[in-house]
Amino acid sequence: VTAPSSPGPASGPFEHWYDHAGVRGGHRRRFVDETDQGKVFFPAHLVPYLDHPAVAALPEPERVALTVRHLYQFLQATTHVETRVVNRTAERIANGRSGVELSTADRMDAFKIYCDEGYHALYSLDLADQIAATTGTPVPNLDYGTFVDRLASTAHELLPGEADLAQMLQVVVFETLITAVLNELPADATVVTTVRDVMRDHARDEGRHHRFFTQFFHRLWAQLDATHRGRVAHALPTMIEQCLQADLYPVRASLALASLDANRVEWVVGDCYQGGAGAARTREITRATVKMCQSAGVFEIPGAEERFAAFGLAPE
Ligand SMILES: [Fe+2]
Ligand SMILES: [Fe+2]
Repeated sequence: VTAPSSPGPASGPFEHWYDHAGVRGGHRRRFVDETDQGKVFFPAHLVPYLDHPAVAALPEPERVALTVRHLYQFLQATTHVETRVVNRTAERIANGRSGVELSTADRMDAFKIYCDEGYHALYSLDLADQIAATTGTPVPNLDYGTFVDRLASTAHELLPGEADLAQMLQVVVFETLITAVLNELPADATVVTTVRDVMRDHARDEGRHHRFFTQFFHRLWAQLDATHRGRVAHALPTMIEQCLQADLYPVRASLALASLDANRVEWVVGDCYQGGAGAARTREITRATVKMCQSAGVFEIPGAEERFAAFGLAPE
């Protein structure tokens, strides 16, 4: 059922979209190389293996190339998830196929998200391509299907028989986490300015998406029956954890390109990717998503709070 409406919610997240969205008013970011000033392509503390003995022993140019490829991975992974996962759900919402009752204005907001994500994909690839041309470190030709496929297969496992609902929830989780992830870089003065600028541009748009998907989740939750609420409440912590898990396929590929042999690659991956994102960082990145669950009433479900707490996601 679609309720008619024309101007859009007066104070909604997309009230000023035509003027403020990156795709509407932003300009193309041109990469300026600042490596001679000691700037890095990704914050060293967010590249898990830089201090590992096998990587620390590499010549400096190989370590720089690893950091450049770490940035490529971030840009490419975000791009693939947004166009292949987020936009699949944005389309369903926009075309009134989500099963959640929405106004025409809300559906148009979902099309605004669809446009935003397409533009984010374009400028993420553009930035990677410009950096490759300047630094001479090629963008590895990987399709990031492993991450997308893992989301799809876990959607089936977490809510058997409810794949569409599971996919929508994965998108809600991703879209309420991503702003915090993007906000880790712009304030970091050690990182090259163009990278920080692109992350800031992206975070601005994602702040609007975040508000949209929080409202969307509230409505979705309100429409679920008691059985589904219980199943969803118990599946959400796993979904949140999976959104934060590193995709090891491009990590292994990058380490191999730095001329580490297979044994050393596994040594590094085994040592550096065991503990997930770490408790403090997980808390920081997931805070808004957990708060959204709390405000929707997820923790009123018996056992839900304990389940979240077991994943380090207890509400504050
Ligand atoms: Fe995006
Ligand atoms: Fe988004």
